[in-house]
Amino acid sequence: MLKLLCALSVVPTTLATIGVASSPGGITELFGNSFGEPGLNATYDYIVVGGGNAGNTIAARLALDPANYSVAVIEAGSFYETLNSNRTQVPGYAFYSALATFVGDSFSSLTNFGLKTAPQDGYNERELLYVQGQTLGGSSAANYMGYSRPSVGSLDHWAERVGDDFWTWANTEPAYKKSCNFTPPNYDKIDRSIDISFDANAFDDEAGPLQISYGNFAGEFGPYLKASLDRLGFESIPGLNSGKLLGYSTIATAIDPKAGTRSSSETSFLQLAAANSNIKIYPESLGSRIIFDDSKRATGVEITTNSLLSSFTYSLNASKEVIVSAGVLLMLSGIGPAATLEEYDIPVVVDLPGVGQGVTDQPYMALSYKYILTDVAKVNVTTGTQLAAGNAEFSAKLTEQYLQNQTGLLSSIGGGQNIAYEKFPASERQYFSNATLEYLDKFPEDWPEAYYLPLEYASYPADLTPEDNYLSLGAALTAPASVGNMTISSADISDPPIISPNWLLDERDQDQAVAALERIRAIAFNSTMVISEYQPGPNVTTRAEILAWLKQNGALIYHATSSCKMGASNDTTAVVDSRARVKGVTGLRVVDSSAFPFVPPTFPMSSVYMFAEKIAESILSGN
Ligand SMILES: Cc1cc2nc3c(=O)[nH]c(=O)nc-3n(C[C@H](O)[C@H](O)[C@H](O)COP(=O)(O)OP(=O)(O)OC[C@H]3O[C@@H](n4cnc5c(N)ncnc54)[C@H](O)[C@@H]3O)c2cc1C
Ligand SMILES: *[C@@H]1O[C@H](CO)[C@@H](O)[C@H](O)[C@H]1NC(C)=O
Ligand SMILES: *[C@@H]1O[C@H](CO)[C@@H](O)[C@H](O)[C@H]1NC(C)=O
Ligand SMILES: *[C@@H]1O[C@H](CO)[C@@H](O)[C@H](O)[C@H]1NC(C)=O
Ligand SMILES: *[C@@H]1O[C@H](CO)[C@@H](O)[C@H](O)[C@H]1NC(C)=O
Ligand SMILES: *[C@@H]1O[C@H](CO)[C@@H](O)[C@H](O)[C@H]1NC(C)=O
Ligand SMILES: *[C@@H]1O[C@H](CO)[C@@H](O)[C@H](O)[C@H]1NC(C)=O
Ligand SMILES: *[C@@H]1O[C@H](CO)[C@@H](O)[C@H](O)[C@H]1NC(C)=O
Ligand SMILES: *[C@@H]1O[C@H](CO)[C@@H](O)[C@H](O)[C@H]1NC(C)=O
Ligand SMILES: *[C@@H]1O[C@H](CO)[C@@H](O)[C@H](O)[C@H]1NC(C)=O
Ligand SMILES: *[C@@H]1O[C@H](CO)[C@@H](O)[C@H](O)[C@H]1NC(C)=O
Ligand SMILES: *[C@@H]1O[C@H](CO)[C@@H](O)[C@H](O)[C@H]1NC(C)=O
Repeated sequence: MLKLLCALSVVPTTLATIGVASSPGGITELFGNSFGEPGLNATYDYIVVGGGNAGNTIAARLALDPANYSVAVIEAGSFYETLNSNRTQVPGYAFYSALATFVGDSFSSLTNFGLKTAPQDGYNERELLYVQGQTLGGSSAANYMGYSRPSVGSLDHWAERVGDDFWTWANTEPAYKKSCNFTPPNYDKIDRSIDISFDANAFDDEAGPLQISYGNFAGEFGPYLKASLDRLGFESIPGLNSGKLLGYSTIATAIDPKAGTRSSSETSFLQLAAANSNIKIYPESLGSRIIFDDSKRATGVEITTNSLLSSFTYSLNASKEVIVSAGVLLMLSGIGPAATLEEYDIPVVVDLPGVGQGVTDQPYMALSYKYILTDVAKVNVTTGTQLAAGNAEFSAKLTEQYLQNQTGLLSSIGGGQNIAYEKFPASERQYFSNATLEYLDKFPEDWPEAYYLPLEYASYPADLTPEDNYLSLGAALTAPASVGNMTISSADISDPPIISPNWLLDERDQDQAVAALERIRAIAFNSTMVISEYQPGPNVTTRAEILAWLKQNGALIYHATSSCKMGASNDTTAVVDSRARVKGVTGLRVVDSSAFPFVPPTFPMSSVYMFAEKIAESILSGN
């Protein structure tokens, strides 16, 4: 165990890792010293519930502060590197956890909560698999690793919405930079004919521990897709991290370029803190209740072990603050809509009707194309489709390349080359209702309405032969009007929440979704590589047929935010203030994507790291 974790660590070799920190006398500390003692009531300055994307980041920043605060991280799961074979570490296997349309309902994983949505009216009453990482690293250990920052206007809108300049582009850009370290494409390992444009200025040299790079592989379809986007008038832009999104570029990824493995908040922030601070990790532990004193100050957390075989409860005291990075815990602790709490006999601490409401997500769809490259020499190129289909010979070749020198498809996410962002063109807007047009008119000029994401896989499990290769083009709506919600189903932490993203329920999203599908088709068929559309296929053509197909086949990209959203002081639907402090109590913050005021118009992970950096900064400066 100790040896394995050291090998997996991506912390620079000058730093120690969990388990090999040296005392001043040069004595190697035990692996177990980084972990809390289960069952022993203890006191920490800060208790972070949820060792996920945001939780590990803020816990590490607090623990690494020169003030030497004591910090505990309570995490439902454990180390994903040991729980899921090699599937969560190898970038090219990310589709196993991240592409829901691929894994379908039969998804066996020890690092996922295994949640499902309630029947979704907008999706023909389907109940969809709702992936959320249950592991140190949280969803940063389950996701597709795409790293892109929002637009300038969307962050300035965030600041305006919550009434605090703390969140403007100018004031958040340093925090985005602080969290990560960027490595440009390595053309010793990537085919030079494939040009990856990037924005090196969006990163500082050797800043934070999160590793951002490109993987050592770029799919062969990239140049053909680029030609089509050029033909359609999309602008080529240098990367997706400088505050401009309208245009197209290749997405950067959270991959450690040396090891060729996933860089998560566990391999980055948590490892850094474990080696250099007194942080204590409590794995396989659920925060089951926040404890308040008579003046409604959060003073601690009740913990229940997350183990079928050994169940017990104890508590930790927080002398400074409790930070929740873990979903529905507020309601179980008495903070939420009073009627719901009373229904489950949970004593009401604060009646906050906004808890669980205001969820925004990006409705998603994926179309598949059978393709062929016009360059005759490459006609029989083999793609990720074959990996996913279980082509043994191809998989063995990929494994060899990857283990030899971190090259080939497995070193990358197998997608994301030339992702394009746009506001829908007039050719699509002409079909929008006035309500849709009025709604979209309110967004800042640089805020995209959709992005189009290429992947090396067929989007739906298909009967594949070794000759079959598909490209899928996904689209996500980034100015969604549908608002989702979630709530508890009992007072017990072990019962799953009821999740209702409400995708496509709003007619304004239906207009946009049909437009997005038509735009995917335009991109696909303006390229020279597509032979035919496999899904939805030529029979789905009228706007009514397209909408019907989307309801039956619409998918999800798991970018939900805002179930405990931040708001200005006069916003009665807000759950936390502009510094993530829960309204109506003291000593308690929510620091994760649920506290965002809205879903940013791109991939959210970069903003989750930024958010944790910013709130750590706020706490350490006394706010
Ligand atoms: C399949 C998938 C693919 C995605 N792809 C991308 C992508 O390519 N790019 C991108 O930018 N974003 C992507 N996202 C979104 C992104 O990963 C999430 O928005 C982000 O990681 C959420 O971070 P978080 O800190 O809010 O929550 P999480 O990282 O999910 O953390 C929550 C943590 O709390 C723990 N927890 C929950 N309840 C308790 C409890 N009671 N006690 C103790 N611990 C608890 C969980 O185990 C988990 O570790 C994807 C998400 C998924 C699920
Ligand atoms: C935690 O706080 C409670 C209430 O103030 C107190 O009774 C208890 O002794 C404290 N526990 C520890 C370990 O300090
Ligand atoms: C930090 O605090 C711990 C006790 O919590 C103590 O053992 C250690 O010496 C302190 N380190 C520094 C650098 O002050
Ligand atoms: C530890 O905390 C629990 C509450 O979670 C309490 O019931 C128990 O008495 C405490 N144990 C000690 C030794 O203080
Ligand atoms: C591609 O593969 C098919 C099936 O194996 C074969 O019939 C065809 O000749 C190949 N084409 C080229 C250009 O190699
Ligand atoms: C991942 O594990 C599987 C199953 O053990 C194995 O077949 C595959 O080669 C491994 N992949 C790599 C890159 O090591
Ligand atoms: C990586 O290893 C493979 C063999 O698995 C080899 O074909 C390839 O040339 C190597 N690439 C580099 C850049 O060394
Ligand atoms: C939509 O708006 C246009 C111009 O503002 C107006 O002419 C038209 O009547 C409106 N249509 C509907 C259905 O309200
Ligand atoms: C969630 O939204 C759906 C659709 O609007 C609604 O039917 C349901 O009652 C809502 N649930 C909660 C808990 O708000
Ligand atoms: C190419 O794109 C244009 C502009 O959107 C579209 O009108 C046309 O139908 C597309 N061509 C094909 C073959 O789909
Ligand atoms: C399209 O519809 C026709 C008539 O219903 C059917 O024969 C054909 O198989 C369909 N094609 C596809 C690709 O589904
Ligand atoms: C809150 O105050 C701001 C600025 O004072 C105002 O623009 C906004 O409309 C108010 N919001 C609500 C919900 O009252």
